Amino acid sequence: MKIGYKTQSIIDFNGDLIIVNLFEKVKVAGGATGTVDKFLKGMISKLISNGELTGKLGEYSLIHNPISSCPAKILIIGLGPKEKFGLDEIRKAAGTAARVAERSAAKKVGSIVHGAGIGGIEPAMAVQALIEGTILALYEFTQYKIGKDKKIKEFFILESDPKKEKILKKGLETGIILGRCQNIARDLVNEPANNLTPLILEKRVRTLLKSMKLEDKVKIKVMGKNQMAKAKMGALLSVAQGSNNDPAFITLRYQGSQKHLVGLIGKTVTFDSGGISLKSSEGMGAMKGDMAGGAAVLGTTLALALLDSPVNLLAIIPAVENLPSGTASRPGDIVRAMNGKSIEIISTDAEGRMTIADAICFAEQSGAKTIIDISTLTGASVIALGDVTAALMSNSDDLIEKTKKLGEKCGEHYWPLPLFPEYNDQIKSEIADLKNAGGRKAGAITAGAFLQHFVNKAKWLHIDIAGKESRDSDSLYLSKGATGFGVRTLFHLINDLRT
Ligand code: BES
Ligand code: MN
Ligand code: ZN
Repeated sequence: MKIGYKTQSIIDFNGDLIIVNLFEKVKVAGGATGTVDKFLKGMISKLISNGELTGKLGEYSLIHNPISSCPAKILIIGLGPKEKFGLDEIRKAAGTAARVAERSAAKKVGSIVHGAGIGGIEPAMAVQALIEGTILALYEFTQYKIGKDKKIKEFFILESDPKKEKILKKGLETGIILGRCQNIARDLVNEPANNLTPLILEKRVRTLLKSMKLEDKVKIKVMGKNQMAKAKMGALLSVAQGSNNDPAFITLRYQGSQKHLVGLIGKTVTFDSGGISLKSSEGMGAMKGDMAGGAAVLGTTLALALLDSPVNLLAIIPAVENLPSGTASRPGDIVRAMNGKSIEIISTDAEGRMTIADAICFAEQSGAKTIIDISTLTGASVIALGDVTAALMSNSDDLIEKTKKLGEKCGEHYWPLPLFPEYNDQIKSEIADLKNAGGRKAGAITAGAFLQHFVNKAKWLHIDIAGKESRDSDSLYLSKGATGFGVRTLFHLINDLRT
């Protein structure tokens, strides 16, 4: 879909469908919607007064133009009550509108900017959210199905005031990049594990960098298992050793400034069977999504580079597959992580923390002063926070506050869990420095506490997104399947880090 911008009045748009909006409880449509109402000889006012058009968020009316043939259809989308209006309401309204437009077989669509008028949202932010909602809502994972032809070909933002063009185009560009980079993450999470082994993932990252013309800006380096062994990544390798698919420690270096180095790590277990501590087969297929952290890291890195963000970033995607076999790790095995700490493997299903532990050591040894990891780490966090909220654990209250706040702007919820020192008792081993599982109590926290043993001086934030990587139903702008959770929030978080 081509996305463009036109300085023109909405009723002059030469396309199939135009999108205007209405707040709840508004009796007389104003702004661009008012202009369209006049053009339609009061039809919108009539729909409002007879109760058909309510302005409720996600509700809409689709009118077939009775006056002229162009635009053939007018879609009025509800924005909800003004008091509850914000950026995510724009995404929801835009997402709903885009889906209705697509279903109506429109090929060329124009939309006014929702919320920039009486909504009181800053225009660039409003158009950015509108484009994000549109791109995310129209996403489909079609790789393995014969394509359908009902697709919007062109989508335009329409604004009659020429003074707004510059600022709106900026928001539009950011929205396009964030929406598309989040969809790249979704594609990887939706991809089945037979077609996304660590080495295939490496190839896909290289192809993406090439097709996005980022080869100069983002330097990729990949360590194979021999190099990992040399670097003494014994924890990570203990997960990889059960699979015939070799691991790949993928790093992406983007330097957009001289600021301090930020290490961004994403859990990338391309399939998590549990290993010898085998998971039950029911629902195991969902574990193809156990690389959603790595996918979010990739999406975020691409977005930061495409938007020339002034950050200094080392992105780490430690890709491994966790399978049981004659060469797999066993419960009871003891291995040593990169920082020399020994770990007793209690469960081979607690593999994510083994991979992130070595990645944290690597990030800090590479000079990272801030380290963020995003990981589908524990079922316990799903029990605690459901598929709605991601868990935050950190040695920095500041990072927690920032993430929570930016998450709300992005329509993603984040909430802190404590890392009180007492939790360490649960991961003490009789015969090693640590054990990799701490029992049923506070499972999300003991995983975070485990990771903290691999952080030295860096500021560190751990984000447990288990259960958030995929949805089992459609929302107003995310469909069933992979969500790309984290991409936009991480983009803003890293983009806004000062030092
Ligand atoms: N990948 C899982 C966590 C997960 C669960 C992700 C549900 C997405 C949805 C992780 O590797 C895991 O298996 N964790 C174990 C840890 C336990 C053995 C200490 C868990 O949570 O049961
Ligand atoms: Mn596991
Ligand atoms: Zn896992």
